[in-house]
Amino acid sequence: MHNNMSHFSLKSLFGAVFLFFAFSFGLKAQDGAKLFKQNCAVCHAVTDQKLTGPGLAGIFDRAPKGDWLKNWILNNEKLIKSGDAYANKIYNENGKAAMTVFEGQLTDKDVDAILAYVKNPPADNAAAAGAPAPGAEVEKEEVKGGIDPLYLLLGAIAVLAIIIGSLRSVRHSLQNSYNRKEGKEETEELSFFDEVKQWITGNRRLVGVFVIIIVFGGMKSCWDACYDLGVYYDWETQKGYKPEQPIKFSHKLHAGDNEIACQYCHNSVEKSRHAGIPSVNICMNCHKGIQKGPQYGEKEIAKIYEASGFDPKTGNYTNPQNPIKWIKVHTLPDHVYFNHKQHVVVGKQECATCHGDLKKMTVAEQKTPLTMKWCIECHRKTEVAMEGNAYYDRMHKALKEKYKGQYDVKFTVDKIGGLECAKCHY
Ligand code: HEC
Ligand code: HEC
Ligand code: HEC
Ligand code: HEC
Ligand code: HEC
Ligand code: HEC
Repeated sequence: MHNNMSHFSLKSLFGAVFLFFAFSFGLKAQDGAKLFKQNCAVCHAVTDQKLTGPGLAGIFDRAPKGDWLKNWILNNEKLIKSGDAYANKIYNENGKAAMTVFEGQLTDKDVDAILAYVKNPPADNAAAAGAPAPGAEVEKEEVKGGIDPLYLLLGAIAVLAIIIGSLRSVRHSLQNSYNRKEGKEETEELSFFDEVKQWITGNRRLVGVFVIIIVFGGMKSCWDACYDLGVYYDWETQKGYKPEQPIKFSHKLHAGDNEIACQYCHNSVEKSRHAGIPSVNICMNCHKGIQKGPQYGEKEIAKIYEASGFDPKTGNYTNPQNPIKWIKVHTLPDHVYFNHKQHVVVGKQECATCHGDLKKMTVAEQKTPLTMKWCIECHRKTEVAMEGNAYYDRMHKALKEKYKGQYDVKFTVDKIGGLECAKCHY
């Protein structure tokens, strides 16, 4: 009996802890519906309605079997180029409209989750998931007009206490009238304290759950308070890191003096989470012709030829290739998710805010700490870019309503979830 008890209380204990975390932090499991909404719904409906891309109803019957769908979703360009018959057929049928390449943005697991969702969209969603508002580039969760679960919990406890209190006296008077009828003595009303003690002994499991919830609630509040103090992680920073690169490539010379746009070389910065380092082919666009530099003469540019297999004497790519091994300057740990497109395109942030002015650097250097505190401080103070974005216009109104009269309304990134652990951590 005793064993059974503790087994059960453990189970409910874990249940409560889990639920609490799910509540507080918002359960961010691989969610096919959400991923679909964020990545695909701009161009696809799960019904047979055509948007930019074909409706996806019946896709599992018409597309080739095996890994075809996964390969297509991750990198349709590659599949089309490989000469795949079905890929070329739909490409041509859709007027050669380009679908986004998701390699690097979505993992295999994400794609599985999306496909599971496309296979079984919830009935009411099938229609709704169709066309999102135009201009909603990156669709997000609706603003939750909710109350903090912690307050709900405290409220529930208070109500419970009142109910227990009144039941207590009702029970006591019932007991006494029963006793009177049976001709027994009336009992003394137990002190509230004793009654509570009795109740606790009789309801250990429930009490355990409450205690856990309160303890974790307290921990979460401490955690939040720590955010406010800004104590997190500013001690281990790579700021000032400035490794010597295999080729003396100068941003000052290229992006500064010669005014080459950042996007010319970092061409995925507006399309994906990665800015990307240019391949040697991009250098060759110019350096096939420019064979001498102002500072190092032919020496450094010769390394580009060595990498690309270019022979400047004949003008042909006849030599063996040796990819350039650039040394990464900025690195976040693997458990952190950072997305350039979100910051540069949606958030309208300048490269220089996070990277310093590369136009003045001969050697690329990490100019900001890249710590959690740094991310969070910016999310707290930076306002979400709203103009000309239908989605945010809607959200703007909703937020204004929500915070009416509370503070002078400033829609900083933290108000759209920019402080949620799961937004930045896998
Ligand atoms: C920018 C618009 C766009 C986005 C975003 C997009 N697609 Fe596509 N998709 C297309 C177009 C256009 C086609 C038709 C083929 C073509 O022209 O490349 C297509 C074709 C497809 C097909 C083949 C359809 C058929 O009838 O055989 C599948 C499957 C597909 N997309 C899945 C997805 C998934 C899953 C996502 C999200 C991860 C996604 N697409 C995101 C535009 C898009
Ligand atoms: C002509 C091509 C070219 C242009 C234009 C260019 N870059 Fe770069 N960028 C590179 C190359 C190559 C590297 C890798 C070598 C290095 O770190 O210096 C690099 C590295 C970087 C890095 C460091 C990457 C890391 O490893 O963490 C940042 C940040 C960066 N560039 C930002 C910019 C910005 C901002 C601009 C525009 C003001 C810009 N770049 C313009 C070619 C270019
Ligand atoms: C859009 C054109 C363009 C691209 C792309 C380009 N460069 Fe240059 N590069 C130049 C120009 C212009 C110069 C300066 C030539 C001069 O002033 O005589 C230069 C000079 C150089 C020099 C000589 C520096 C010196 O002082 O001697 C090196 C090294 C170099 N580039 C490396 C690269 C590498 C590596 C890439 C690819 C990541 C690259 N460049 C891409 C235009 C380009
Ligand atoms: C909000 C801050 C922020 C802005 C704005 C920003 N970056 Fe970055 N950038 C980062 C962080 C953080 C990393 C490190 C990413 C990682 O390690 O995963 C990074 C990494 C890079 C890298 C290294 C390669 C890569 O993809 O990780 C390059 C190149 C780069 N950024 C270029 C740019 C350019 C060009 C712009 C402007 C068009 C820009 N960044 C705007 C924060 C920013
Ligand atoms: C210079 C200011 C700035 C810095 C620094 C910054 N961000 Fe952001 N971040 C923004 C803005 C602005 C947005 C809002 C973009 C939008 O409108 O969706 C944003 C949004 C985000 C989002 C999406 C939040 C949501 O609710 O959808 C994530 C995730 C994120 N940032 C991660 C990071 C990480 C990780 C770092 C640090 C490595 C970082 N950011 C540093 C300005 C910044
Ligand atoms: C805006 C983005 C952002 C948010 C929100 C965020 N983090 Fe972080 N977190 C980071 C970054 C970036 C780092 C890496 C810092 C570094 O390398 O110095 C980090 C590091 C950490 C680390 C240290 C791990 C290590 O490798 O040292 C822990 C633990 C952590 N975060 C937990 C959390 C928890 C819990 C939450 C929610 C309360 C949270 N983070 C919210 C961006 C964020």
